[in-house]
Amino acid sequence: MDGSQTPTKPKLVLILLGPPGAGKGTQARMLETRFGLKQLSTGDLLRAAVAQGTAAGLAAKAVMDAGGLVSDDIVIAILRDRLAAGDLGRGVILDGFPRTEGQAIALDALLGEVGLRLDAAVALEVDDGEMVRRIAGRFTCKGCGEGYHDDFKPTREAGICDGCGGTEMVRRADDKAETVAARLDAYHIETGPLAAYYAAQGVLTRVDAMGEIGEISAELGCVVASVTAT
Ligand code: AP5
Repeated sequence: MDGSQTPTKPKLVLILLGPPGAGKGTQARMLETRFGLKQLSTGDLLRAAVAQGTAAGLAAKAVMDAGGLVSDDIVIAILRDRLAAGDLGRGVILDGFPRTEGQAIALDALLGEVGLRLDAAVALEVDDGEMVRRIAGRFTCKGCGEGYHDDFKPTREAGICDGCGGTEMVRRADDKAETVAARLDAYHIETGPLAAYYAAQGVLTRVDAMGEIGEISAELGCVVASVTAT
């Protein structure tokens, strides 16, 4: 490189770990806005595949409806396609991936294929009772995807999205009480142990996610600022 060229800043890669309802999506969208990052939610990518009726979507639907984990090969392929599509902003927030040790091992290779590497993993820690309360009251604007909660984050005007003014709000099919119990089991068995996996790599930050959305966002902002400063 000659002296006139400015080195390109590497894109940030942040994992948000946490149980269903921990606030991964809520926080990822706030980090997107604040830091110019892209939220890559495997849950959203899978729901899009289901809606489009792709082969992966058809295979995933019954598993998602039952609250289980979609097979590693399907999820890894979906994330690989998304990463390869580009448009990764200043970096990516992986929301809901990895969820198994197999996915965590595959992630390094997936990132390497697009010239990225992991900077930090954040575990959002919430107790089971709070997760159930958060999921039970959740709804989303169909127009722009902004997430709300009946009690904790209502729209300013009833039935109208603060962000886009949309009036069609949707609730997720897998937010029913019986499905939530299966999702929590899958989390505790398969995904919880990943916190220790990333702690062993020296990249884990644990965040108490029982507090208010703004407080948690401030803590996450500090994590992003600290890894972008190094
Ligand atoms: P996915 O869509 O990833 O769902 P999840 O992990 O169960 O997480 P949620 O989206 O339910 O919760 P969240 O943590 O994003 O919370 P949110 O911000 O919305 O996955 C769905 C399914 O897809 C899985 O069950 C699985 O089948 C499949 N899948 C996805 N990825 C997979 C993978 N890698 N491998 C295999 N299968 C995969 O917040 C929840 C509510 O609480 C909102 O209403 C919000 O407003 C509110 N809230 C948020 N923070 C706070 C706070 N601090 N205080 C009070 N309220 C809050």
